[in-house]
Amino acid sequence: MSQKENSLVDKFGRRVDYIRLSVTDRCDFRCVYCMTEDMTFLPRAQILSLEELYQVARAFTELGVKKIRLTGGEPMVRSDVMSLINRLGKLPGLEELLLTTNGAQLDKYAVPLKEAGLSRINISIDSLDAERFRRISRVGKLEKVLAGIDAARRAGFDRIKLNSVIMRGYNEDEVIPLADYALSRDIDIAFIEEMPLGEASDHSREETTCSNEWVRGQIEQKYRLLDSAEKTAGPSRYVQVIGKKSRIGFISPVSHNFCEDCNRVRVTVEGRLLLCLGNEHSVDLREILRGENSSHDDLKEAIIKSMDLKPERHYFYDKDHAQPVRLMNMTGG
Ligand code: GTP
Ligand code: 5AD
Ligand code: SF4
Repeated sequence: MSQKENSLVDKFGRRVDYIRLSVTDRCDFRCVYCMTEDMTFLPRAQILSLEELYQVARAFTELGVKKIRLTGGEPMVRSDVMSLINRLGKLPGLEELLLTTNGAQLDKYAVPLKEAGLSRINISIDSLDAERFRRISRVGKLEKVLAGIDAARRAGFDRIKLNSVIMRGYNEDEVIPLADYALSRDIDIAFIEEMPLGEASDHSREETTCSNEWVRGQIEQKYRLLDSAEKTAGPSRYVQVIGKKSRIGFISPVSHNFCEDCNRVRVTVEGRLLLCLGNEHSVDLREILRGENSSHDDLKEAIIKSMDLKPERHYFYDKDHAQPVRLMNMTGG
């Protein structure tokens, strides 16, 4: 098999040109939909070093990947993560280097991130009420995240996107305030359906899940939405708000299945290449990275071969299919 550019195509003809690279399973928050309260994190020996993460990213870009999103846990809690981001920003062939963050440290890092060549930032925020925010994140401070969003805007990031997971009994009455907050700042916002990734410890996911159809209905009571022709590969759909610069996204992996145009794979911080968020199919890249007799070409060969394992789709809440046991912080968003 030759290792030429753009060789990452799966059995269903889908081209993979985007990786979500988790740089840590740790986080300074404990969001109820993502983690349990008393999480144990991976020991250092099990996680990829910054150099190994860089080698993985390099292999993927050499195989035609154009877009890398850094995820976690919370990427910014990894010590010295800026040195990795600085190197990734210079990777030949990489068109977009992106970050998904809880925003709590952006007041400190927004400027260095911009200087490192980061293209865009997605920031999670599920409530604008400090007490609520704490209930959902268990430990997070709303004011830090708001300061982080301001810092990202001041640093000149374009198309900042907020992510809000809407859950019944937690924040379903905040759809309009969250939309107002984004719209008044000309930034985008995506509403996300909670996915059943691992067991949630504070609630029953099936009871709290809010469909995006309902969320959209709320927004339409105040704003006129225009479906945009623009397609993003993956589970999200964006609409224009008439008279505003912001776009509103609906990420609906539970109520809709958009797997047919999936363009992405994930790499966990343990070096496990996950072919789909909702399935367990994976390949151990760490074994190759650490193998005495294996080379960079072996790594690329394994990545090419892995494409055959990419499943056609996920089946959330389907009793006939096994549900993922991995929590989100282990999956990398
Ligand atoms: P782009 O892919 O660049 O559009 O970003 P995004 O909005 O997908 O990324 P972000 O990290 O902000 O994730 C927002 C939500 O989308 C998170 O809850 C992710 O878990 C979810 N998500 C991202 N990719 C996928 C996917 O392939 N499948 C499913 N089911 N959910 C995804
Ligand atoms: N379902 C949906 N979204 C989730 N996130 C974390 N866990 C879940 C889940 N179970 C979101 C966070 C963050 C992004 C990386 O993933 O809110 O915005
Ligand atoms: Fe941390 Fe993000 Fe998980 Fe919240 S959703 S605990 S901020 S990794």
